[in-house]
This record gives sequence, C-alpha cells and structure tokens, in this order.
Amino acid sequence: MPIVPDTPIARHGPLHLYAHTIGCQMNEYDTQRAQHILGAQGYTPTTDIRQADVIFLNTCSVRAKAEQKVHSFLGRLRRLKKDNPRLIIIVAGCVAQQLGPDLLRRFEHLDLVLGTRAIPSIGSLLQRVVSRSERLAHLPESEEEGWESLLCKGELTIPGVVAPVTIMQGCDNFCSYCIVPHVRGRERSRRSGAILHEIDLLTRHGVKEVLLLGQNVNSYGKGLEEGLTFTELLRRIHDRTSVLRIRFTTSHPKDLTESLMGAFAELPRLCRWIHLPFQSGSDRILRQMNRSYTAARYMSLIDRLRSLRPDMGLSADVMVGFPGETEEDFRQTMQLIAAIRFDNLFSFSYSDRPGTSASQLPDKIPADVKARRLQELQKLQMDIVLDKNRAEIGGQREVLVEGFSKQSDGNQLTGRTEQNRIVNFQGPVDLVGQLVTVRIHNAFQHSLLGERTGHDDCRWNEAGQPRTQS
Ligand code: SAH
Ligand code: SF4
Ligand code: F3S
Repeated sequence: MPIVPDTPIARHGPLHLYAHTIGCQMNEYDTQRAQHILGAQGYTPTTDIRQADVIFLNTCSVRAKAEQKVHSFLGRLRRLKKDNPRLIIIVAGCVAQQLGPDLLRRFEHLDLVLGTRAIPSIGSLLQRVVSRSERLAHLPESEEEGWESLLCKGELTIPGVVAPVTIMQGCDNFCSYCIVPHVRGRERSRRSGAILHEIDLLTRHGVKEVLLLGQNVNSYGKGLEEGLTFTELLRRIHDRTSVLRIRFTTSHPKDLTESLMGAFAELPRLCRWIHLPFQSGSDRILRQMNRSYTAARYMSLIDRLRSLRPDMGLSADVMVGFPGETEEDFRQTMQLIAAIRFDNLFSFSYSDRPGTSASQLPDKIPADVKARRLQELQKLQMDIVLDKNRAEIGGQREVLVEGFSKQSDGNQLTGRTEQNRIVNFQGPVDLVGQLVTVRIHNAFQHSLLGERTGHDDCRWNEAGQPRTQS
C-alpha cells in the first residue's frame, strides 16, 4: 500500500490536523514528519483543537511528569470525541511504544497507536482507520521505509531555515535511571548516503542549518558496514553538501574523541556549540548512574574544547535527587556548574521509571528535598546565564535569521548565534535564511537584543560560498 494515497481522503470540506508534542527533539522531528506526510494527504495544520479532524499527540515517558501530561491530555479529549465522533485521535512516541495496545484499552476514544518506528506509515494507517473504522496499534520492530522517497518526490514542503535530521535511532547506554533504551530500542545508525541525500534535499528546499539528531550521536557508526565514525560523517556533510551550519545533539562525554573535538576547530560550518550532559558532579553518583566518566574527566573535556575554541557555546543536562544523593554529592554538582559556567543548562528532578535499574535502588530522595535542590541549582544557573548574556553586550555576532520573533509586532527578526543564543533585531523579511552580523545592545535571561551592522562581515557570501576558512 502506498504511504501517501493518490487522492486525499474525501470527507467534509478542508481537513484539519492538530498536532501536539511532548518530549525531546526526536519527537519534534517525528511530529514534523507526521505533519508533512498528512499534509500531502490533504490535512492542513490548525492550532484550534476544536477545528481538528485528526489530533496527533506525540508522547514522552522520560519522567513520570511527562507521562502524566499524556494521560491528562488524553482524558481531556474524551469530551471532544463525544461532540464529534468522526474525530480521529492518534497517539505516537514513547508512551505509545511502552503501552501499545493497552492504550487502546485504557482510552476507548483513541483510534491509532503508533510506536516510535512507525511514523513513515502514518498515512496508510490513518487511511485504514478512516475508511474501515478500525482501531489500530502498530509497533514495528524496525524503522519503516518511506520518508526519504517522499522527500525525493518533492511532495513535501519543508518550512523553515533550520531542520532536524535523524542520524541514529535508539540508545545502548542504559544509564541506570533512563527509560529511553527501553522504549527506543538498540542503537541503529542511518547509512551516511541516506543522511547526505536528506540534507541535500533539505538545502534545495531552502534549509540553511541542520541539527543532527540522536540520543548519543557521537557513537554514530556502530554496527554500520561503512565503518564510518561520527567525525567522518561530519566531514562528509561539511564537504559534500551546501548547508551553511551544522549542529548535533546529544553527545555523550564517554564518546567525545579528540578527533571530534578537533572538528570544532577545523570545520568552519560546524557551529561552535555542544550539548554535553553531565548529570551529576559526584563520581559516586556518576558510577551508580552507569555514565562511565568522572567529574574530573568531564572538566578536562571542557578544558580541551575551550582550548581549541575559546568561543565554544556549552549546554548540558543535569539531574538532582538520584537515589542516595547526599548533600555532599549535590554540593559537588553545584561546584561543577559554578566552575564550568554553562551557557544553558537543562535541569531535572530524578523520577523513577519502570524497568530501569535505578528504580530498584534504595534511599529514594524525598520530593521536598529534590525540589529544594533543583531550585537552588536553577537559581545559580540563571545568574550565570544572565551574566554570560550580559557579557555579549557591545560585541558582534554572526546570526542565522530564522524568522520573526514571536513577541514582536511583526518587524522584529529572530535568529541564533553559533553558540545557540537567540538574538532579536529589526530588519526586513528578506533577511530570513541569511547570515547577518548583529551588534548586541541588550541582554535578557533567554535572548539578546541587537542591531544589524551595515556590513555583514560573515564567513559566507550571498551564494553560500565560504569567504574565508577560519
Ligand atoms: N540521550 C540524551 C538525553 C536523554 S533524556 C543523553 O544521554 O543525554 C534527556 C535528559 O532527561 C537526560 O539527559 C537526563 O538528564 C534526564 N532524565 C532521563 N531520565 C530521567 C529520569 N528518570 N528522571 C529525571 N530525569 C531524567
Ligand atoms: Fe538515556 Fe543515557 Fe541513553 Fe541518554 S545516553 S538516552 S540518558 S540511556
Ligand atoms: Fe522522551 Fe522518548 Fe525523547 S522518552 S525524551 S520522547 S526518546
């Protein structure tokens, strides 16, 4: 059965799709793919849930809170389905993968449950649901084919200047607290040819920056016949496609090789930015988390990156309240944060996940202690971020213009620096998709405000060719 039927499903007037994503960038990517596929089937996106013919919910189970959100969202949809029995409700993502057909039993108003590898089949499955009034759960063992051929046929319109590209699926690390390997399965790298092809197509659609996605991108290549490392993949993308900027996320400290660090100094199109979760500053906790590095090793990696590129942007994930975490362990985490001074930090409170080994550990930390530690940590980090943002004032930064700023009344553009800072400034719409130089005037917690300098002293010319090799 073709993934995209030749004719749109004819029901009543224009068809509307309401999509909602909970979870990580992998889920964002899958939602985008689902929207593209259903868009080709005649479904227009809507932000008004009451107007929807199809509701697509992409779910996350990384923390109990994320999973609770899914259950309450689904609960709220009961009423909508009652008012409009023709409404189709699809649940995808990690909760769908975890619970499978159970979700259909628990929520009788659900129509379609899609596992984490089933997105390319969404079109044909939706058609089955609509035409035969079936209720289905589809959890394939391996990623289904079809996405690239859709891109090739040019049936999809890729909006935006920045596009995510998955380079690997799953995770083999089994950090003791984490459910991801249980719901996303073993690590599987995509062939480099398919990745290059997708990036090539995206750039032809006007994409200027790609974000290479995976749970552990820097272990890319494991099990591939090509015998390619992640650094070699980056080089190929750099040398063989015309994309202006390359980023990747997420990296694991244990796989951060000297050659990958060297790439930040060698490849001008590779953004000077890395997201490198450290999780804890205590070696004792890191051992129990099964992270296979020490705090000192992590600090030495950061020192090395900064010696190669003093302008390197750094972000990370950290967790408080892992079972058995003492005040002393927590102090060590705070010390690491104060010593490194991250540009951005995502902080979480430990949450027991079913099937993980940490959930079996004794000495669970009480909720009030976790909340207090998280608050203390976030306060420290907010001060650091504001300080670092203020240090940008007076400087000039190269910004890739992504579109209009949401807060503005329509003439303020927004983009990002290589270090991933958001910069807003006044300018005409035709700058969208271009690299411009902005002088920074003001700094806030989450963004910078600036003014375009008269001359765009960027490293690329209008045709996207490098001016200099820095
Ligand atoms: N693959 C990435 C991120 C995975 S999930 C990595 O290895 O870094 C994103 C973040 O959620 C993790 O980095 C971790 O900080 C957090 N996280 C994962 N499991 C968690 C749990 N059980 N409780 C609280 N936070 C968790
Ligand atoms: Fe989870 Fe660890 Fe894999 Fe990240 S590396 S997805 S934290 S198991
Ligand atoms: Fe959540 Fe699944 Fe991503 S559990 S963090 S949506 S891989």
